[in-house]
Amino acid sequence: IPVDPFDYVVFGGNGDLAARKLLPALYHRDRDGQIPIEARIIGASRTAFSSEEYRNFARDALTDHVKPEDLHDDTITRFVNRLFYCHVDARSDEGWPELKALLDENGSSRIRAFYMAVSPNLFGDFAAKVSQFGLADEHTRVVVEKPVGRDLDSAKALNSEIARYFREDQVFRIDHYLGKETVQNLMALRFANALYEPIWNAGHIDHVQITVAEEVGLEGRAGYYETAGALRDMVQNHIVQLMCLVALEPPSVFKDDALRDEKLKILRSLHPIDASNVETLTVRGQYRAGASGGNAVKSYLEDLGEAESMTETFVAIKAEINNWRWAGVPFYLRTGKRLAGRMSEIVITFRKPPHNIFADVTGEVSHNQLVLRLQPDEGMKQYLMIKDPGPGGMRLRQIPLDMTFAQSFKVRNPDAYERLLLDVVRGNQTLFMRRDEVEAAWDWIDPILKAWEEKRQKPQGYTSGTWGPSAAIALIERDGRTWHEPD
Ligand code: BG6
Repeated sequence: IPVDPFDYVVFGGNGDLAARKLLPALYHRDRDGQIPIEARIIGASRTAFSSEEYRNFARDALTDHVKPEDLHDDTITRFVNRLFYCHVDARSDEGWPELKALLDENGSSRIRAFYMAVSPNLFGDFAAKVSQFGLADEHTRVVVEKPVGRDLDSAKALNSEIARYFREDQVFRIDHYLGKETVQNLMALRFANALYEPIWNAGHIDHVQITVAEEVGLEGRAGYYETAGALRDMVQNHIVQLMCLVALEPPSVFKDDALRDEKLKILRSLHPIDASNVETLTVRGQYRAGASGGNAVKSYLEDLGEAESMTETFVAIKAEINNWRWAGVPFYLRTGKRLAGRMSEIVITFRKPPHNIFADVTGEVSHNQLVLRLQPDEGMKQYLMIKDPGPGGMRLRQIPLDMTFAQSFKVRNPDAYERLLLDVVRGNQTLFMRRDEVEAAWDWIDPILKAWEEKRQKPQGYTSGTWGPSAAIALIERDGRTWHEPD
């Protein structure tokens, strides 16, 4: 169903995020007929582009980031004709009256969204200008990219700054992991089936693993990454959000605050990690030189151009949720750059049957595992024990019940941003983070960061192209468990 007509203003409209994600996502939605003909996309930044130059920028971005089979001259032309450009500066009045005039061409009834695809230290300045020049009204929405702060205090300050100009129901804090197909399928699996929910608890689940492994290194973002590290960059947002969706209680409806209230309860139930337990519950790593995707790659320090750094490019955590449903069920989390492959998955390991009647039979009764694959090859597999088919007597074997979506439904898997960008226009905040959620996540992360500093817990080196430092393997094997090996 097409959304209502809108004007999307992208601050930082000619930056990397716009080129790689935002313009391709809007193009795909347009191609699929979900964007009304009147809708406009307005790039805004300090570069002195004309609208024509911006259209050329967008054409290049589409060529670089959209599959050739999805590019057609007529759909590209229709899309770029929606694009306009305004030259604005967050710290001066230059360009703002022109932006206002452009927006006012459509009167004030149309939905307006301002996307902050800029450095977070400019969010406040942009919001102030939007307000000063009267660009916002009750139809206006503002989209905030991560990072929302680098600790609890800075997150609170940033949220307060935004709250000076926008109501919370106008603020859309993006965590693009919430827009991924499998993540939404996790919600369908849990709450659109009666099958799993009765066993979705400590009585039946042994432990949960969440892995977000990347092959890439710094990708030219050394300046940002060195001040962030894997815990801030990936765990505080993406991984913690995934953990919340696995663990939350059924919301009364799959909508806005009902879902976000339940996520908040999980965040507030996380067992604190601080100086007293940080060394046993966390592992930090930093990549050394090695091989990635068949090519020799440099170490983090060489990529950075520094002789030393305390920044982690890998982190593993044993997390626990202090509530009735999850008491005693560890959530093993890990993420890193320059790992053995690009692979993100959530693995739910169920308990073994309480009594083994097959003790004398060939083949061990193993844990049933449910594997939710986020990328690549999105899909779900439920591993089950069966009798090995055919003659040869009673032999047991584990097989996956495969629910790989793209194959079964023969559809293209949309990028996370496609869904999220249009949810902003629809005014649907379900898949966006509320202020208190972001702050509760920092409330759990801050003491870990502090404890690392206090204990001088240095990142351990790991060879690029492996699964991280050996201590990460020890973290789970100590408990008699192993990391799930991707097929
Ligand atoms: C971003 C991080 O939020 O997510 C990057 O800042 C990371 O460091 C990226 O590479 C991973 O996203 P995806 O969708 O490629 O898994």
